[in-house]
Amino acid sequence: MTDDLTRLRGLLDSTRLDREPDDSAGYLDVLGDDGEQPRTVAGLAMRSGIVASIYQRGWRQGLNLAMGTGGLGPSEERRYAAESLELSKASLVLDVACGPGNFTHVFASAVPQGGLVVGLDASRAMLAQAVTDNVVPGAAYLRADARHMPFADRTFDAICCYAALYLVPEPFTVLTDMLRVLAPGGRIALMTSYRGSWEPQRLARGALSVLSGVRMFEQGELTGVLRSAGMVDIEQEIRGAVQFVNARRPL
Ligand SMILES: C[S@@+](CC[C@H](N)C(=O)[O-])C[C@H]1O[C@@H](n2cnc3c(N)ncnc32)[C@H](O)[C@@H]1O
Repeated sequence: MTDDLTRLRGLLDSTRLDREPDDSAGYLDVLGDDGEQPRTVAGLAMRSGIVASIYQRGWRQGLNLAMGTGGLGPSEERRYAAESLELSKASLVLDVACGPGNFTHVFASAVPQGGLVVGLDASRAMLAQAVTDNVVPGAAYLRADARHMPFADRTFDAICCYAALYLVPEPFTVLTDMLRVLAPGGRIALMTSYRGSWEPQRLARGALSVLSGVRMFEQGELTGVLRSAGMVDIEQEIRGAVQFVNARRPL
């Protein structure tokens, strides 16, 4: 096991594990064959080796174009996420639904020396790609379900979840679990869909949602959960069919 995987192993809360983590594929796997099979087109795509192999090389950029993020390309988006999370002050970072580690490896170079960034995803195909392309010092990958993550409360200084809440079956369960594992003073950065306010646009995005399985969030849904959970410094930026939401947990 590499040093970073050993450090990740040390972060796991044994009371939340159903099995001994398996490190044979280059990441820690605590799901085994228990991972739920997605039931939507978008969810199934994330389990495909083909999509995983092209995700970082065009698919993600295409997603930004399709969602109309107004010229915000993958590298600007990663920079924006790193700044929102104040990574220069964070030593333990969690990248929830990390896909092929396209943000995780960049975060690892933004944290102080000795920091650790954990990329968590449920897809074997995505994590195999992460191990091929994005293993760098200070990054380690975990196969787990974002709805019930195997970490103790208040573990992480910063948590990112980009381009995933609209795909997971129970996004508010994922959000609640992220808030559970966020340390006091820690920051969270989310990027997900936005249904829009103009009725024809709402109808079109609603239809797309039904066809693809990509959930469309209302403007106040995520910010409302964060506010109710006592989060502060809540910021929301809307770009096309996307919303970026940042917040901090008080000390
Ligand atoms: C589109 S990728 C996002 C990758 C990266 N965060 C980005 O912004 O480009 C969405 C990821 O969510 C993961 N995912 C979906 N449901 C999940 C769950 N319940 N637990 C963990 N990961 C999940 C998929 O496997 C997929 O890799």
